[in-house]
Amino acid sequence: MTTACAPGKVILFGEHAVVYGRPAIAVPVTQVQARAVVEDAPVGQGIVIHAADLHLQWRVGAASPADDTLQPMEATVRHTLERLSVQASLDIKLTVSSTVPIARGLGSGAAVSAAIVRALAAHFGQTITPQEVSDLVYQSERIYHGTPSGIDNTVVAFEQPIYFVKGHAVQVLSVGRPLWLVIGDTGIASPTRDVVADVRQSWQREPRRYETLFDRIAAVVARAREAVAFGDAALLGHLMDENQELLEAIGVSSPELERLVSAARQAGAMGAKLCGAGRGGNMIALVAPEETARVAAALREAGAVNTIISEVVQTRPA
Ligand code: PMV
Repeated sequence: MTTACAPGKVILFGEHAVVYGRPAIAVPVTQVQARAVVEDAPVGQGIVIHAADLHLQWRVGAASPADDTLQPMEATVRHTLERLSVQASLDIKLTVSSTVPIARGLGSGAAVSAAIVRALAAHFGQTITPQEVSDLVYQSERIYHGTPSGIDNTVVAFEQPIYFVKGHAVQVLSVGRPLWLVIGDTGIASPTRDVVADVRQSWQREPRRYETLFDRIAAVVARAREAVAFGDAALLGHLMDENQELLEAIGVSSPELERLVSAARQAGAMGAKLCGAGRGGNMIALVAPEETARVAAALREAGAVNTIISEVVQTRPA
């Protein structure tokens, strides 16, 4: 039996604009995890996937799972076995579970896929680089997202704070001083694919306006990268607020997100913004370490269904 995990993630700066070639910054969130367990199964059983949280089990290739959010799991298994040069006719059971909430901007799809890739590689005694994990996860992200930038699979596979530009080699972000985030969940599921498609329509209708907004987000990301390196939390908080304003202008915020963002600021956060696709899902607040519990309580009082306190640290050199 082989087990592997992968963390959730949040985008600190630059979501949406990253789809249009601008840079973005993302960090892993280890407080939530996806887990995959591979075990040998009776001969002739084939490959069975058990989505434990959803109480669903099906045989790969026999019948497509009714729920189309499950198809990427099957695709991940196929692509990974191909990469590992393992026969697809083997007999294994793959059990997948996750504490990363689905469709809430915390990268649940990427985490599940990364855990599957790692567990299969380990089960067959093969080493697989973070870049290979990322590439395999990207293939399933395309099913979840339509036109993913690749940021989710990259941050989840590398498990480091990253500076990311679509189509370029990932850069591990240098973090001058640990940062503390409080993450608040609106409780509203918001599929990334739908929000990204809406932004694309708006961009097609008003290309100049949207290109300008994306450029302004890129400028925020450039300043944020330096502020992270210098450990300048006050400046970062201010930049988060600026990024939130630009996300509102793009049309991906919501009253529920804005209620949580203002509650965090009022409770003493240095800055706050939605994270991920928006319209629902989660927001993040940048908070001094001694204020985290207070901000988390204020978020719950303002309607957050869940809060996570997470520290941003660099665990390997940039
Ligand atoms: O909703 P999430 O956490 O999967 O984040 C999506 C980030 C976007 O920039 C909106 C899309 C993308 O592919 O980068």
